[in-house]
Amino acid sequence: MKSIPFGTELYYAKYEFSTPHLLSVSDCETLKVAELLALANIGLNELAELTLGYTESSGHPELRSLVAREYEHVNPDQVIVLGTPIEGIYLVMQALLEPDDEVIVLTPAYDALINSPEQSGAKVHRWPLLARDDGWELDWPALDRLISEKSKLIVVNFPHNPTGFLPTESQFSDLINIAERNGTWLFFDEMYRGLELDQVRRLPSAVDRYERSIVLSGLSKTHGLPGLRAGWLIAQDESVRQKIMNWKFYTSICPPAPSEFLAMAALSSGDRIVGWNRVIISQNLSQAGGFFERWKDLFTWRPPQAGSVALVGIDVPSATAYCHDLAREAGVLLLPSTFMGFDDKHVRFGFGRKSFTLALQHYEDYLLTTR
Ligand SMILES: Cc1ncc(COP(=O)(O)O)c(C=O)c1O
Repeated sequence: MKSIPFGTELYYAKYEFSTPHLLSVSDCETLKVAELLALANIGLNELAELTLGYTESSGHPELRSLVAREYEHVNPDQVIVLGTPIEGIYLVMQALLEPDDEVIVLTPAYDALINSPEQSGAKVHRWPLLARDDGWELDWPALDRLISEKSKLIVVNFPHNPTGFLPTESQFSDLINIAERNGTWLFFDEMYRGLELDQVRRLPSAVDRYERSIVLSGLSKTHGLPGLRAGWLIAQDESVRQKIMNWKFYTSICPPAPSEFLAMAALSSGDRIVGWNRVIISQNLSQAGGFFERWKDLFTWRPPQAGSVALVGIDVPSATAYCHDLAREAGVLLLPSTFMGFDDKHVRFGFGRKSFTLALQHYEDYLLTTR
C-alpha cells in the first residue's frame, strides 16, 4: 500500500514545538488535568486509583453513554471509542472502500480526508469550495458532475477546516438528499462541532439524519484536549461498525484507560469548556478583523462562520515558501493551503488559543519592519 506524505503533520512535526508564535493551530485553549477534574468534581485520588489494564474494545460503556447523549437518536451501541480521532478516518476508509471505488472529497480539507481514501485504493474526486468576496460556498453543479453510480462515499467536514465554512441547514439537507438519491455513504467529520459563532446555526449531526452516514468527532478541537487523543465514530449500520471494529483491532484494539477517564470528566462537565473556547475565538476574531483591515493589500479575509480556523488569501509568490521563511525568520507559524489540497495562495490562521493576541502582535511587528 502506498503511503502519501502527510503534509500538515510533517510540517507541524518540524515547527510546532520549536516556533514560539503559533498563529495557525486548529485546537482550542487546553486545560491541566487538575483543572479538568475540578470542573467535573472528581478528586485527583480517583485518577490515581485507575487501573491500567486493557479496556473494552469499543469503549467504556459510561463513556459511550455520555457520547450518545450528545446526539438526538444515537444509542451507546452505535458509538465506537477510538484510540485517537485521526484513527477514525483511516478505519472508515479501510472498512468501507474497495479498490476502484470512487470517493468525492470536499476540498480544501485536512489532508487525511483526501489521502486516506486514496491510500485505500479508491479514486478520489475533489469537490472544491468556491471562494467568494466575503466567504466560501458549496459548488452544487460541480457535485452534480462528480457524482455517479460509482460514487461510494462523499467526505465532508463541517464546521470546516480550514475555511471556517458552515452550510445552512437547508444546504445540509440538500447534501443528505443527494447522497440518499445516489445511495452514497457520507463520512461527516464533525471534529469542530459546537464552535459555531452563532449557536443558532449549529447543525444537527449527520448521524441523526442519514442512515448511511458515519460521523467522526472527539475532544481535540472544540474542547481543546488534543493530548487526550479522545475521539469516536458513530454509525447506525451494524455491519459497517463490525468492519470498523475489526480494522481497529489492528490499530489500537481499545482506548487508553486514562484517556477514557478524562474524556468522561470532560463530557460530564457540560458545555462550559466549549463555551469558554467560543469566547476566546470571538475575541481573537475581532482582533483579526482589525489586523486584516490594516493589511488588506497583503491578505484577503473571509471571516469564518464556525470552527477555530480560517483560510486567508495572501498576495505572495508562494504561500508555502512564505510560511517556511516566516517560521525561520520571525518564529511565527502559519499553515500553507498546499497541504490541504488547495492552491499556493492561502494560509490558515487559528483563533482558538489565548496566545493568539501576542502571536498576532509579533507577526504585525515583523510585517512593519519588513514591508
Ligand atoms: C478535520 C479534522 N479531522 C480530524 C482531525 C484529527 O484529529 P486529531 O489530531 O485529534 O487526531 C483533525 C486534526 O487536525 C482535523 O482537523
